[in-house]
Amino acid sequence: MNKKLLSLLLVGLLTVFGLMLVGCGGDDTTTDTTTEDTMTEDTTTEDTMTEDTAAATSGDVEYTIKFAHVVAENTPKGQAALEFARLASEKTNGRVEVEVYPNSQLYNDDEAIEALQLGTIHMAAPSFSKFTGFVPEMQVVDLPFLFESVEQSREAFAGPMGEYLNGKLADSNIMLLAAWDNGFKQLTNNRGPVNAPADVENLKFRVQESDVLVSQMQAWGASAEPMAFSEVYNALEQGVIDAQENTYSNIYSQNYQDVQDYLTESNHGLIAYAVVTNPEFWNGLPEDIRTALDEAMAEATEYNSTVAGQINDENKQQLIDAGMEFNELDEAGLQAFRDASYPVWDEYADVFGEELMTILEDYRQ
Ligand code: SIN
Repeated sequence: MNKKLLSLLLVGLLTVFGLMLVGCGGDDTTTDTTTEDTMTEDTTTEDTMTEDTAAATSGDVEYTIKFAHVVAENTPKGQAALEFARLASEKTNGRVEVEVYPNSQLYNDDEAIEALQLGTIHMAAPSFSKFTGFVPEMQVVDLPFLFESVEQSREAFAGPMGEYLNGKLADSNIMLLAAWDNGFKQLTNNRGPVNAPADVENLKFRVQESDVLVSQMQAWGASAEPMAFSEVYNALEQGVIDAQENTYSNIYSQNYQDVQDYLTESNHGLIAYAVVTNPEFWNGLPEDIRTALDEAMAEATEYNSTVAGQINDENKQQLIDAGMEFNELDEAGLQAFRDASYPVWDEYADVFGEELMTILEDYRQ
């Protein structure tokens, strides 16, 4: 074997070894030196690795955390992610840099969860619905008319329901760091005002990738098209779907007002986020860094709770000002939607199991 071939083989072997370390997400971090070496490799893409190496040499950033999400920066999740990044840097004196990738720039939610499990990214915050394929119990949050208020949902996430779901996530090699709010979903469509389930009959709604949401639309007499968030605007514009459900902040920041005429305040379901990391990665961080990041997460979560309602209220008014025809469901309309939704609860009782269903009885409207 000539020298050139031998050196190419060596480079190849080193590259494969490096990729294995990346896939391990910061495993084997027994000493500080090893941790830092692994973390540098952990940052994964070649451009970041170069930046990191340069930063570490200049005594700046030692740990880079890639945080991918799908919404715009001017939303409750977008703002909280930026606040977490700011606090993480502040509390570690610049040793940690959180790179936030909004707007599905890196991945859609399904891909982000897989990338997190592989250690390619380190944090994500998909809505609970997006975990359906990994942890079916997570779509419990999609049950129509589960919570009466965002405050009540916070209590549930902090109580037995959150504990239960956290246990299920841990079985899938995903660590829950916090639950963040967005708010309640509303309905938009292009056919006419919605006052009762009869008004959504035969409309084709985009839903998140959750079986419960497909069942919900079918129970209302509509049909459902599960679709990644980044594809919804075009699908609405091209008439592939007639309607969708989302929070005011997601509707406004995605400009659905440009392609949808009718907006109905239904508050029928919640969008909340599971802020997650890879447990091997997180537990492989030095303790002082983890403590600082836990503090940053607690403060960013508080910040998210403060801004979520404000942003959604503001965006609601902006949608009305933009010319969407707006109506609120009255009590009779709400009750008709609740009645139409109860079969969905029965359908999923076995999927979620008795323990979880019993926990939910405290909240069910
Ligand atoms: C999000 O708020 O993260 C997106 C939710 C969706 O897919 O509708």
